[in-house]
Amino acid sequence: MSEKQSINFLRGVPAEEALSFLIPMASEGYEKVIRRHGVDVLQYGHFTGFKPLRDLIGGFHRVNPERVIVGNGGLEIISLFFKSLPRESNIIVEEASYDRVLLDATRYGHHLIGVQLTPEGVDLDQLKAVVNKNAVAAFYGIPFHHNPTGINYTEENRKGVERVCREQGMLCVWDICYQALRYDGKENGLIAVSEWGPILTSSFTKTISPGTKCGYMVVPNHYVGHLSRVIANTRINPNLPTQAFIADFIESGRYDEFVKYLCNLYRPRMEALNTALNSLFPGAFPVSISGGFFAPLTLESISIQKEASFIESVQQAGVGIAAAWDAIPPNCVEEARKKGLFIRLTFPAYAPDKIRWGISKLKETTARFSR
Ligand SMILES: Cc1ncc(COP(=O)(O)O)c(C=O)c1O
Repeated sequence: MSEKQSINFLRGVPAEEALSFLIPMASEGYEKVIRRHGVDVLQYGHFTGFKPLRDLIGGFHRVNPERVIVGNGGLEIISLFFKSLPRESNIIVEEASYDRVLLDATRYGHHLIGVQLTPEGVDLDQLKAVVNKNAVAAFYGIPFHHNPTGINYTEENRKGVERVCREQGMLCVWDICYQALRYDGKENGLIAVSEWGPILTSSFTKTISPGTKCGYMVVPNHYVGHLSRVIANTRINPNLPTQAFIADFIESGRYDEFVKYLCNLYRPRMEALNTALNSLFPGAFPVSISGGFFAPLTLESISIQKEASFIESVQQAGVGIAAAWDAIPPNCVEEARKKGLFIRLTFPAYAPDKIRWGISKLKETTARFSR
């Protein structure tokens, strides 16, 4: 008997085969670094991250490693950053963003202000209007293979955002965790960091594994002491064996090879998704995905009233989806809801055939609900 087909478009996880491929490298790597560094990585210490890894990251971003803080994942570092801001700060975010980041910021009492996105990046006129009206502490954006809209900012737009932040004395945070994950054969350029900023935050979760959770932040010199104190009071030291493994993985050249392997593995999956969405959902899918983990879909014909029963029907057909309203900051929800159901699809964990099958099932159910 054949098993019932299914796909879960909700889980933004790396492909299982990539993690299996990593097993020998990770097991050898951890053993090697624990033998080499011994008590140094098993004891308290390196509060702002394993020094050799900070040096490597500093070299990559061409900044003094003293400005690099390495922790247990991208989300942890971003959360610690939010914790380091005065309570009830205003933070500008994109009109759709990483849902967990938005939820975390509001837990610290911060106020989110969403600004519109265009295919080039942030709507700069709107950004200027918002900063002219409000005292804003920071801007947070995802310039490469944006989660959840998939857009890639142009360099010009990114610099425009940085200029506004700098002129207004606001911290500018770029979450670049998908920078290396580009599958269309091109490369995303490095973001230049000077003394004022921008702040960069990134993660090895998607480029190595969620289990070897590690993320970092590059901050201005003047912010290092303040953020370090917040970190030291929260979790003392990070997971040092993991950071030593990652430093060794990078130094040996295997990290770059692994990222190349991932890009080759994910390329046909992304192409299958782009093709299926363009042919079956023209207009509902505004951008061509060039990397990362996510694509957005806005289903105009699925109103708020139909939302729950539609999602249930799609799930019964074997396709996991959910409304992505948590990814929208409060001031943008009303406008977004008027456009129809907003969902976020993820693709790297699935083979092209399965992706095509899932999108066709989604289309069938959408057509049925649109009658
Ligand atoms: C934009 C963005 N930032 C940060 C993270 C979280 O990274 P980590 O798993 O290392 O905490 C993710 C994970 O999906 C993400 O999409």
